[in-house]
Amino acid sequence: MRDAILFLVILVPILGQFAFSLSKLTSPPLPVLPLPTAAQLKWQRREVIMFFHFGVNTFTNSEWGTGQESPAIFKPSDLNATQWISAAAAAGVSLVILTTKHHDGFCLWPSRYTEHSVARSPWLGGKGDIVREFVHAARASGMDVGLYLSPWDRHEKKYGLDVPYNEYYLGQLRELLTWYGGISEIWFDGAKGKNATNMTYYFEDWFSITKQLQGSINIFSDAGPDIRWVGDEQGAAGDPCWSPINRTSLQIGNASLESYLNTGDSRGTAWVPPECDVSIRPGWFWHESEKPKPLRHLLDIYYKSVGRNCVLLLNVPPNSSGLVSDADVERLKEFRRAIDKIFEKDLARRGIAKACSEWGGKHGGFAAENILDGDEGTYWAPKKDKKGRYWIELRELDPVVKFNVVRIQEAIGMGQRIRRHEVFIDGRTLVKNGTTVGHKRLHRLPFAVTASRVKIRILESRGPPLLSAVGLHFDPHKPWNATKTS
Ligand SMILES: *[C@@H]1O[C@H](CO)[C@@H](O)[C@H](O)[C@H]1NC(C)=O
Ligand SMILES: *[C@@H]1O[C@H](CO)[C@@H](O)[C@H](O)[C@H]1NC(C)=O
Ligand SMILES: *[C@@H]1O[C@H](CO)[C@@H](O)[C@H](O)[C@H]1NC(C)=O
Ligand SMILES: *[C@@H]1O[C@H](CO)[C@@H](O)[C@H](O)[C@H]1NC(C)=O
Ligand SMILES: *[C@@H]1O[C@H](CO)[C@@H](O)[C@H](O)[C@H]1NC(C)=O
Ligand SMILES: *[C@@H]1O[C@H](CO)[C@@H](O)[C@H](O)[C@H]1NC(C)=O
Ligand SMILES: *[C@@H]1O[C@H](CO)[C@@H](O)[C@H](O)[C@H]1NC(C)=O
Ligand SMILES: *[C@@H]1O[C@H](CO)[C@@H](O)[C@H](O)[C@H]1NC(C)=O
Repeated sequence: MRDAILFLVILVPILGQFAFSLSKLTSPPLPVLPLPTAAQLKWQRREVIMFFHFGVNTFTNSEWGTGQESPAIFKPSDLNATQWISAAAAAGVSLVILTTKHHDGFCLWPSRYTEHSVARSPWLGGKGDIVREFVHAARASGMDVGLYLSPWDRHEKKYGLDVPYNEYYLGQLRELLTWYGGISEIWFDGAKGKNATNMTYYFEDWFSITKQLQGSINIFSDAGPDIRWVGDEQGAAGDPCWSPINRTSLQIGNASLESYLNTGDSRGTAWVPPECDVSIRPGWFWHESEKPKPLRHLLDIYYKSVGRNCVLLLNVPPNSSGLVSDADVERLKEFRRAIDKIFEKDLARRGIAKACSEWGGKHGGFAAENILDGDEGTYWAPKKDKKGRYWIELRELDPVVKFNVVRIQEAIGMGQRIRRHEVFIDGRTLVKNGTTVGHKRLHRLPFAVTASRVKIRILESRGPPLLSAVGLHFDPHKPWNATKTS
């Protein structure tokens, strides 16, 4: 008897585990190049990140300073970077980016290469460092930090002289990338003075020094190398929207590349995903007369950015007191509440998943059910089909639960593949004809529907499609229509 109990209690679980480990998994299929780096994957999963534009413009009611501003005007009475970060936390972001110097040349940290900085301002008697306060506040909340350093500098006398100015710029870049610990993203733009068309920015030097000083940073610019500009400042990605693009075709500051940046390139050889920068207000800097965008407009931006395989970089400008205004804080909370409410309920999770085929069979590790496990690391893979006819279907759905948002996610760690797909309900009604998917595709249907089956047909893809998730959600908000409501 004792032996029997011993057998049941100790040996059965051990033997069971042994048997389990003996049932072999199927090796994953090959990836389709290009692929994201670990840092790019981490960035993509953040989905929404935040920008803070702050500087002398905050005190002069302007967007572009002249460079002639006196540091004496820079006196935020109640500056509290922790309050900025709380606002960011309320929006659910994990990365915050600060304008350390804008086109006016005024530095928010006490750079040793210029006197045009906080060190000459009345704020904290010239002993302050906003970059430091920002970084400390972010770290204290477990957030990562990014920095923007404007190449265009309307104050610095060396500007316009290639070598001296590039040396100056690199000196400042070095300070920013060595004084403040790990920096996750750096933002470069190509803006230039009209009378300095001769000025050459030594981007390759800047990028190389940046990578040397911060090994896992993502560099943003019109041309990557890690993250590209989406080609507009409205927060709208293209449709299709590919992360791959030909980096050799890109140039920083060339306006005729905007549509290419917006859609990417299905044949692109480099993984350079797009970031959608847009401000919560009309301007990038704070202006007393401006208000944050309505919630429905922000949601529309969310669908057109995050919902089209992008990261949304939302700018929130602190005011001249040195605080994020109450109206913006409230809007950020509403925005997060709305997103959480739409996506926390997922009708699909109560159904089952069936597919055209499963790589390695039902127990190979790539079953259709993987799209419903809430884990972005697992995915459905089909067997290779010569005719490219792939589909996956949610079945046994609750036929009375309404939905108007279809969420589809590719396992982008294995490459972005889907070119064209369709969504059908109850086996026959086409409700959406779509292009790319990528990290996340959100289809907002024009009306709410009910169904007991939802099928996704992949019409064209670069190799067999790999899906990590499919979800069905209900968004109670009316769609934003910019032409109706200004
Ligand atoms: C700064 O803001 C944080 C978050 O809103 C708040 O808890 C803290 O009391 C503020 N600090 C000061 C000095 O006002
Ligand atoms: C352009 O050049 C003129 C004279 O060289 C200078 O006074 C002016 O400030 C410059 N403007 C800008 C925008 O850099
Ligand atoms: C631009 O470069 C040309 C040739 O190198 C030079 O003659 C001209 O003075 C420069 N212009 C400015 C504004 O520096
Ligand atoms: C900008 O890009 C377009 C499109 O690729 C190209 O034709 C043009 O030559 C570029 N402009 C410059 C100044 O290089
Ligand atoms: C991008 O590069 C690939 C491979 O060289 C090429 O097939 C494709 O046509 C290029 N895309 C464009 C828009 O030129
Ligand atoms: C800045 O925002 C704070 C609220 O966070 C508010 O108390 C303060 O009055 C605002 N300052 C200005 C100049 O509007
Ligand atoms: C879906 O869109 C493609 C291209 O836009 C078109 O060729 C195709 O006919 C459409 N399919 C349906 C069923 O509307
Ligand atoms: C937006 O409103 C305009 C004007 O009322 C209308 O013509 C258009 O169809 C609307 N668009 C959407 C997507 O509802």
